[in-house]
Amino acid sequence: MSPTVTLTAKQPIEAQKRPDEANTRRVFVKSFGCQMNVYDSQRMTDLAATEGYAETSDMAEADLVVFNTCHIRERASEKLYSELGKAREIKDERAALGRATKLVVAGCVAQAEGREIIRRQSAVDVVVGPQNYHHLPALLESVRPVVDTDFAPDKFERLPAPVARGVSAFVTVQEGCDKFCAFCVVPYTRGAEVSRPSAKVLGEIERLAAQGVREFTLIGQNVNAYRDPQGVGLAALLRAAAKVPGVERLRYSTSHPTDMDDDLIAAHADLPALAPYLHLPVQSGSDRILKAMNRRHDVAAYLDIIARVRRANPDVAFSSDFIVGFPGETEADFEATLALVKEVGFASAYAFKYSERPGTPAADAPDQIPEAVKEERHARLFALLESQRLAFNHATVGRTLGVVFDKPGRHPGQLGGRSPYMQAVHVEAPAELLGRMAQVEIVAVWPNSLKGRLAGGSSY
Ligand code: 5AD
Ligand code: SF4
Repeated sequence: MSPTVTLTAKQPIEAQKRPDEANTRRVFVKSFGCQMNVYDSQRMTDLAATEGYAETSDMAEADLVVFNTCHIRERASEKLYSELGKAREIKDERAALGRATKLVVAGCVAQAEGREIIRRQSAVDVVVGPQNYHHLPALLESVRPVVDTDFAPDKFERLPAPVARGVSAFVTVQEGCDKFCAFCVVPYTRGAEVSRPSAKVLGEIERLAAQGVREFTLIGQNVNAYRDPQGVGLAALLRAAAKVPGVERLRYSTSHPTDMDDDLIAAHADLPALAPYLHLPVQSGSDRILKAMNRRHDVAAYLDIIARVRRANPDVAFSSDFIVGFPGETEADFEATLALVKEVGFASAYAFKYSERPGTPAADAPDQIPEAVKEERHARLFALLESQRLAFNHATVGRTLGVVFDKPGRHPGQLGGRSPYMQAVHVEAPAELLGRMAQVEIVAVWPNSLKGRLAGGSSY
């Protein structure tokens, strides 16, 4: 009797492959950080597909490994080096079996650190910046380690058409940032604000909608600063996108308070496809700190925008980003942040401890805040935001909301989806509703999701 062989991750890679798969080249892409990186990772995967690489979620079987990195906070970039250590082991193991692995570092750490990455981890073959990844096929031909981070202007012109990956999609409409907040690396890693022509964006939306995408999030580092070469702004772009056949729900992220114009606020009143949800980072509730952060708005201006959006559409809920422990932040400044949170009432929000980023003005400020103080303030802010999130979830019970079903549910006969407010919702629903939007009555709140039931007479 021949011994039974159980295939496990510990076995040599060759032994795990079915014979018909042995010659297929595979790409593993891991994305860190923001939605823009998720979008870029998908475009890199599409690009690799045109070069004959099939996507895999198992790094050990990949001939091409791409880390699409984030530089926004210290911990984000440290993660890269630990991932690279693991990738090196796999690369060596595969090399012993005669299989080559190309290791690529893309994204904002690539842009910021360039050749330093190869110095710290010599297994890396390619370092490529966020504006240059369309060069990947040529860069992969290089026999020596190669760095490509000089901003190239023509990325979107060169990339293959995007491929739908379900019912929801991100579409990059704008990249870069001219705001230069004192804590932020984005203006350095992503460069100046550039908006894609609206005709190109709408073409991408049309193609994806034809493939079944129903929910689109228009993304940009400063998305509401969008203005294309013909003068089309974000509100006009959203209005045009809403007319594309198949488009049912639109979102946009991330916005800056100073770019919230009247037209965009009006769209929240008169554009039914636009989700009543606005991510509007404020960072701090202290005018003194906002000034030191170079945010170009004060607390009153922020609260005025919130009031105007609520007047336009009382159903709009808000999300935000906060930084605690920015240099010079006193207990009184921090309490002003708590007061702002209490005044607005957020559906959900992110709180970050300030992280010194080399090359940004705030990194050189003399009055850095001790880690223990940051930790303590973060815990207090997080607790407040969490209580608001739960209160908001409870307030949706009894409401009927459009839910975009994007995955099977936890249990058979269930589907999982997202409410307009990005809440996860689980519903007993027929499988044919996967990939569609339906009206759902929210009936209960679980810790991390809502329970809903299909609303009677729903016209899906
Ligand atoms: N430290 C902490 N948080 C930061 N962010 C940006 N830069 C830093 C930093 N140096 C946060 C901001 C921003 C979000 C994307 O990340 O809140 O809105
Ligand atoms: Fe960074 Fe400020 Fe630009 Fe946002 S607006 S990307 S926080 S510099």
